[in-house]
Amino acid sequence: MLGLHDNRLTSGVADSVPVKQPKSYFVKSYGCQMNVYDAERMGELLEADGLSPAATQAEADLVVLNTCHIREKASEKVYSEIGRIEKAGRKSGERSMIAVAGCVAQAEGAEIAARAPAVDLIVGPQAYHRLPEMVGAAVKGERRVDTDLPTLEKFTALGTARKAAPSSFLTVQEGCDKFCTYCVVPYTRGAEVSRPANVLIEETRKLADGGAREIVLLGQNVNAYRDASGTGFADLIARVANIPGIARIRYMTSHPADMTDELIAAHGEIDALMPFLHLPVQSGSDRILKAMNRSHTADSYLKSIDALRRIRPDMAISGDFIVGFPGETEAEFEDTLEIVRRTNYAQAYSFKYSPRPGTPAAEMADQIDETVKVDRLARLQALLNDQQLAFNAATVDTATDVLLERPGKHAGQLIGKTPWLQSVHLYADGAKIGDIVTAHIESAGPNSLAGILQERKAA
Ligand code: 5AD
Ligand code: SF4
Repeated sequence: MLGLHDNRLTSGVADSVPVKQPKSYFVKSYGCQMNVYDAERMGELLEADGLSPAATQAEADLVVLNTCHIREKASEKVYSEIGRIEKAGRKSGERSMIAVAGCVAQAEGAEIAARAPAVDLIVGPQAYHRLPEMVGAAVKGERRVDTDLPTLEKFTALGTARKAAPSSFLTVQEGCDKFCTYCVVPYTRGAEVSRPANVLIEETRKLADGGAREIVLLGQNVNAYRDASGTGFADLIARVANIPGIARIRYMTSHPADMTDELIAAHGEIDALMPFLHLPVQSGSDRILKAMNRSHTADSYLKSIDALRRIRPDMAISGDFIVGFPGETEAEFEDTLEIVRRTNYAQAYSFKYSPRPGTPAAEMADQIDETVKVDRLARLQALLNDQQLAFNAATVDTATDVLLERPGKHAGQLIGKTPWLQSVHLYADGAKIGDIVTAHIESAGPNSLAGILQERKAA
């Protein structure tokens, strides 16, 4: 029997096309911000091991598929991608080495190994610090599966050799103990673990020295953060805010049950804490929330939002929603529309419920028909899209701070973010990436804004 924790699986790879010796790599990431963060760290590890980043996946000797297991569609993408890489390999007579990382690797390591013989190595989210070693083994034809779930070993092994970006991610917490009945995360990412605040402060200092102006504190349940010495999340934010150079702080993803009074108050006390919060509610129906094991009600959620807005009237809210959870009636779905109207979202992600093997909801009776899910999702998204467009349109003809993060497509164009996480395209001669400028917003679309430098508007 192949257990999930077998380190060594088989020797040699079953498909016949020779595998390239990895000199260059490409990480393709699916899913959440945590994966984006992990992808950056994997890149740094491979570069420290002498590999160079390839400009495209097709040019890379090693392709790392950093997978997402949250919904079935996300999960299936990995197999189609493996198929494409194999096909390209057969055509050229030599194929890229394939590593499967992330949550599908964690949840289905043995299954991938059996179903996709071309995969050269399989590494779970808590083991990717061992990626270079596994690539070395794969070069010798030894195929490894490493999906152990140790706790802080990965972070220790990664060290702090980080490249800073104007907006830099920092994982402060991983894993989830909440066990929402639809969700695979507690199984794929393991139990909640918080990194020591002192280590995080040190890492933030280095990021700030390297040019980071904004720190995005990441965690599956980031506001449940509490380290072994008892530092809670609001304390951590206050300490990060004191680091010279750090002008902006964001955090994601939060759970409504962990929105403590202290954390809400921090939004009124810490200027660097941006007035934007991603706070998933999933459903507006208390009966569904209970069946989801969400440990909050529609009312407790709205109370947190009201309290935040009393302190920060410009607080923008983003959310996640699931429609068609088992047993959801039309009236219960309408409760979701109602909470959306009450909250007025700046941005949101909404999904059809997807039964995930091994989760309690997948076994529930009253699974909802696909046609009903499609219809509810369309109605919900129409409302959310209207709110998002109205939120963006309200910024037209206002002046707002923009942190310039990257070059745009056109010469002289830069792209940055407002405090409310809206992307702004602007021509900003004389300004550079990493600057926070004041922009005058000229126009707004559903996903971005266009602006000009305020001084130029005033001139
Ligand atoms: N089906 C549909 N959506 C899901 N999510 C998590 N699990 C499922 C599932 N089984 C959504 C939730 C969560 C987001 C990251 O993905 O809305 O907040
Ligand atoms: Fe999944 Fe719920 Fe944990 Fe979020 S809080 S990761 S939805 S189990």
